[in-house]
Amino acid sequence: MAYKPNDHYAQKARKENYAARSVYKLQEIDTKYKLFRRGDNVLDLGAAPGSWSQYASSAVGPDGKVLGIDLTPVASSASNVYFAEQDIFTADWQALFAAAGMRPPVDVVVSDMAPNTTGISITDHARSLALCEAALDVAKAHLKNGGCFVCKLFDGEDAPAFRNGLKKIFKTVNALRPQAVRKESREFYLIAQGYVPN
Ligand SMILES: C[S@@+](CC[C@H](N)C(=O)[O-])C[C@H]1O[C@@H](n2cnc3c(N)ncnc32)[C@H](O)[C@@H]1O
Repeated sequence: MAYKPNDHYAQKARKENYAARSVYKLQEIDTKYKLFRRGDNVLDLGAAPGSWSQYASSAVGPDGKVLGIDLTPVASSASNVYFAEQDIFTADWQALFAAAGMRPPVDVVVSDMAPNTTGISITDHARSLALCEAALDVAKAHLKNGGCFVCKLFDGEDAPAFRNGLKKIFKTVNALRPQAVRKESREFYLIAQGYVPN
């Protein structure tokens, strides 16, 4: 059975009607780096069970849109959120944008994707990095000039090279380990802003 924490953040998420405690990671990132503006179009990669999309939905407001993608289905009642049960490696993006009523390029791409973990840090790092690279490919294909990209990475030896790669195509790149990340986790987030397409 999947591990379900019942800590301060999990309880707060339940009280505030968020689908997961991970919402507070995005909230901290957004508070610090100002990711979202009213009216933005947002791609949420690895969206289930839906808390990041919930947060983005209210941050962009009724004139904005959120397209959430995950291997597992997500239900949403928000009118500006469209979820698709898809693998980001094989998704038909044009069809998804059309279904979501969204016209690319988008303003923000966020990825909270996580691989199935093994407990072997080198393997988990490699799998997580592969998801970050795939998310970055999606961002490169669909992010507007000046747009913003956020991804979760399980730390490891290839993290600096990935971060340096981001620095070549974004004006600023920061790393943050939000307070809501559990102590035993090796995850942190890269926040890349000011996309400059090659
Ligand atoms: C930590 S959860 C995301 C939590 C979400 N941000 C929230 O706040 O509700 C990570 C998600 O990444 C998804 N994921 C992993 N690989 C994926 C892939 N190739 N395509 C789409 N989603 C993927 C998993 O199915 C899982 O639901």
